[in-house]
Amino acid sequence: MTQPERLPDFPTGGCAVVIGGSGGIGRAIAVQLAERGCDVALNYFSGPGRAEETASLVRGAGREVHVAKVDLRDEPMVKEFVDDASEHFGGVHTAIYAAGPYIPMRFIGQQPAAAFREVMEHDTFGCFHLIQAALPHLRASKGSFTAIVTPAIRRYAVRDILSAAPKAAIEQLVKGLAAEEGRFGVRANAVGVGVITDGLYHALVESGDFDQRFLDASRQAMALKRLGTADEVAEGVVFLASSRARWITGQTLMVDGGYAL
Ligand SMILES: NC(=O)c1ccc[n+]([C@@H]2O[C@H](COP(=O)([O-])OP(=O)(O)OC[C@H]3O[C@@H](n4cnc5c(N)ncnc54)[C@H](OP(=O)(O)O)[C@@H]3O)[C@@H](O)[C@H]2O)c1
Repeated sequence: MTQPERLPDFPTGGCAVVIGGSGGIGRAIAVQLAERGCDVALNYFSGPGRAEETASLVRGAGREVHVAKVDLRDEPMVKEFVDDASEHFGGVHTAIYAAGPYIPMRFIGQQPAAAFREVMEHDTFGCFHLIQAALPHLRASKGSFTAIVTPAIRRYAVRDILSAAPKAAIEQLVKGLAAEEGRFGVRANAVGVGVITDGLYHALVESGDFDQRFLDASRQAMALKRLGTADEVAEGVVFLASSRARWITGQTLMVDGGYAL
């Protein structure tokens, strides 16, 4: 029996755009994409030094990298970044949304409305801007879009509304995108990230929002009884973005140690 021809995981031309490339999860994704042969365009918002560290890891994996400041709230700026990346690398085959602001954990009754509005602006509208900017390029390349969300959209964790609410809207955007754009060959999926010891974790420990009691309870609530890492999250993201997942669209994969079961 002849074996079916194996597609490369990612096209050889064009690039992967990683929004949140200066962050903990975005960095792990950018590096794994580079290790699998992708050139990468990544952004920062307030951390040019962190973006440069990611860029040097991408170069270390033998790939080219383009870095720019992008504020996701600024629709034209997002579009310019994605268009520039496409022009520079000759197309965009992969768009990853792995950004989001710091989110103080409070009960809904104690969250100021301004904090709720701000997180929706950065996170949900930010993701919406990226989708609109990336879509023409993804149609041209029959590419994929993958967004980070949270398992709290399945199993709510108290005080986590600033994560759960924008990510629930993002999951719906992803499903809509999958349903509407599949006929153009574009796929869209999401990855729900449980508590990991990278990225936002450090600021949440420093602020006291992640105290020992919270971390012990989180571990206990997970089937695998341990916190995860950004690298483990990136494995799921890169799989969904790659041609190995070419018949998977509109799905949310929980990479959460079994929290949302
Ligand atoms: N870590 C976790 O345990 C966990 C769990 C579930 C979900 N998540 C979600 O996963 C996403 C990434 O988290 P992370 O842990 O990697 O956090 P992180 O290390 O703080 O990274 C956040 C990234 O978002 C960027 N960013 C923030 N606001 C932006 C804006 N307005 N425009 C453009 N970029 C912006 C940051 O840029 P600068 O650093 O340059 O400012 C950074 O690259 C977030 O949405 C987070 O809520 C994380």
